[in-house]
Amino acid sequence: MIAAQNSSELSLPVPDEFALKLSADLKQIICKAIMENGGSISFEQYMQMALYEPGLGYYSAGSIKFGETGDFVTAPEISSIFSRCLARQCQQVLSETSFSEVSSACILELGPGTGVMAIDILRELELNHSLPKIYYMLEPSADLRQRQQLNVKNAIPHLKERIVWLDHLPEKKIDGIILANEVIDAMPVKRIVFDGGVEECVVACELESDDQIRFQWLRKEVAPKLESALQMILDELREEIPTPYITEINLNIKPWLNSLNDVLNKGLILISDYGYPRQEFFHPQRSAGTLICHYRHHAHDDPFLYPGLQDITASVDFTAVAEAAVDIGLDVSGFTTQAHFLIACGLDQFVSGDESGHETDDVIKRAQITHQVSKLTMPGEMGEKFKFIGLSKSLDIQLCGFDFIDQRARL
Ligand SMILES: C[S@@+](CC[C@H](N)C(=O)[O-])C[C@H]1O[C@@H](n2cnc3c(N)ncnc32)[C@H](O)[C@@H]1O
Repeated sequence: MIAAQNSSELSLPVPDEFALKLSADLKQIICKAIMENGGSISFEQYMQMALYEPGLGYYSAGSIKFGETGDFVTAPEISSIFSRCLARQCQQVLSETSFSEVSSACILELGPGTGVMAIDILRELELNHSLPKIYYMLEPSADLRQRQQLNVKNAIPHLKERIVWLDHLPEKKIDGIILANEVIDAMPVKRIVFDGGVEECVVACELESDDQIRFQWLRKEVAPKLESALQMILDELREEIPTPYITEINLNIKPWLNSLNDVLNKGLILISDYGYPRQEFFHPQRSAGTLICHYRHHAHDDPFLYPGLQDITASVDFTAVAEAAVDIGLDVSGFTTQAHFLIACGLDQFVSGDESGHETDDVIKRAQITHQVSKLTMPGEMGEKFKFIGLSKSLDIQLCGFDFIDQRARL
């Protein structure tokens, strides 16, 4: 996701009274959890509650998150070209995992946002006569699910029957492709500080004189198992990190991949998100960690501001994703930047055409497309920071998305 500006608290827009009340209610609930836990909770629990507390968390409540009127923009919201390129990768995997000429294979999209990626992928696959048997959309948020259903009904009513909404993974195994765009960055993480030894940054709260709850950081010992895992990571780094060095660790990746592995019979898990291979993730420049919060197109680094009203994200350590995948028996079948993935999937063919694949002479339309493509691919925008990793199961093919430049050696 991207936001228009980097901001400090002072320059952020102030939420309206209703939103402030929701945030105050959530603060109370988090504070109660802190008290009940003896004065602090892990940052992982804080982030879980701030994003997913039923009815109040950022992704569970009803605010508009995506697009110009929301807090941030993701790649599928910038241009349909992103999803049309992904459709090429889907098409290859669907044809490899189908038993007959009519596709028996499925797509499962995790955390589908507004549903725009599903709409554009299905449109492109329809043009190419390659529709999946079912397009599953796993959406835990009831509010987002409603928006997706409305958008699908308006955009592709004739394909609605092929879409199945889920609030948990399918019971039956599937063949095909699982998509997760910007899902890992929204998973709760632990915050760690290397400062001589290793400590965990946990969250405490304080009641100020005007009855306002204020959250603050505390440091706590880490469990010995986690400490030795972190020490191993440090030992692997080629470059020494400065201290104190704050970072985030996502312990949810492996159980999450495990659950996807259980659901997938044959096919590909395609993950796209922003982050780095480990040697770059632990760059000396990132000594203050990778947490970024998004509020109305302002990006800042204070996760305690307006809980429930702002998004909180952390960059992905793609080496950790690859290690977890290998541990559970998946094959790491490709890793590359967003720019290289989109180019490999035929980006150039989409640049000169309209949505139905026809060349367009409309000068304004062409200028818009050029602008969108530069946002998706330029190194200073999303082109390099965002990556694609392919994890495959019983699928022995060269994936088209990694045909141009495969950077697995960087992991
Ligand atoms: C930043 S949004 C990305 C939305 C959309 N994929 C896009 O690119 O516009 C992150 C989404 O991931 C969802 N999410 C987080 N953890 C998830 C999980 N374990 N399974 C499925 N969705 C998850 C969140 O609820 C949220 O809708």
